[in-house]
Amino acid sequence: MAVAVGVDVGGSGIKVGLVDVERGALSGPRLRVKTPQPSTPAVVVPIIVKTIRRSLLEAGVTAPDVPVGVGMPAVVIDGVTKSAANIDQGWIDYDLGAQLRSSLPGPVVVLNDADAAGLAEMRFGAGAGERGVVIVLTLGTGVGSGLFNDGVLVPNTELGHMEIRGRAAERRSASSARTRRGLSWKAWANDLDEHLEAIDRLFSPTLIILGGGVSKDADKFIGRLTVRPRVVPATLRNDAGIVGAAMAAAERAAAG
Ligand code: BGC
Repeated sequence: MAVAVGVDVGGSGIKVGLVDVERGALSGPRLRVKTPQPSTPAVVVPIIVKTIRRSLLEAGVTAPDVPVGVGMPAVVIDGVTKSAANIDQGWIDYDLGAQLRSSLPGPVVVLNDADAAGLAEMRFGAGAGERGVVIVLTLGTGVGSGLFNDGVLVPNTELGHMEIRGRAAERRSASSARTRRGLSWKAWANDLDEHLEAIDRLFSPTLIILGGGVSKDADKFIGRLTVRPRVVPATLRNDAGIVGAAMAAAERAAAG
């Protein structure tokens, strides 16, 4: 069994689990710790390392060099986080890859959180076997995006930050925007539709997969969307970020 640790760092929680990367499923407990506030790298990195060690221990893994993949809510280039929309500004230009490698013995990969979730959905979830242009959106505190063509990821797209009505689109289409603005599902679906239409104008995807916590309430809003491409809910739900980050790490480790 090929395993890797997946980590999903979000604005409210840090989720960690050991993943069987051949099945796309957790093979140990799913740990969740609250993201500390302020969420500076100096505070968050030791928590990530500690939680990874705890997940290996609780899963009974003794091999020291298990690959680790970390999904961050940021643009990530060569292990360096380059943006910080919903996290502490201290993450801008922070070399998380290097920091983690100094504390962990195995290979480490850092990638954008929505790219990680997208990888998992494309392999094991709603996008399995889908060809052509597929866009996976994660609707949470912000909106993350993963862009795929014939199953191959184009990393670091930031479709949540397209400008709509003079603001970042995620300000209206994120799941947090619905609760923050006290909107009905119907009203929020209209805003989401506008974002999806703008995406369709630019990318003409065959399929749009909607993930994040709201995917469990898909029946409340997907039927209201009028955008041209097919729109389906993600199926891996909460685990997509962990599974995809672990997949990326295992693949990089196998490539040597
Ligand atoms: C960030 C993205 C991230 C998304 C979901 C956005 O605000 O800019 O990098 O993928 O939130 O966490």
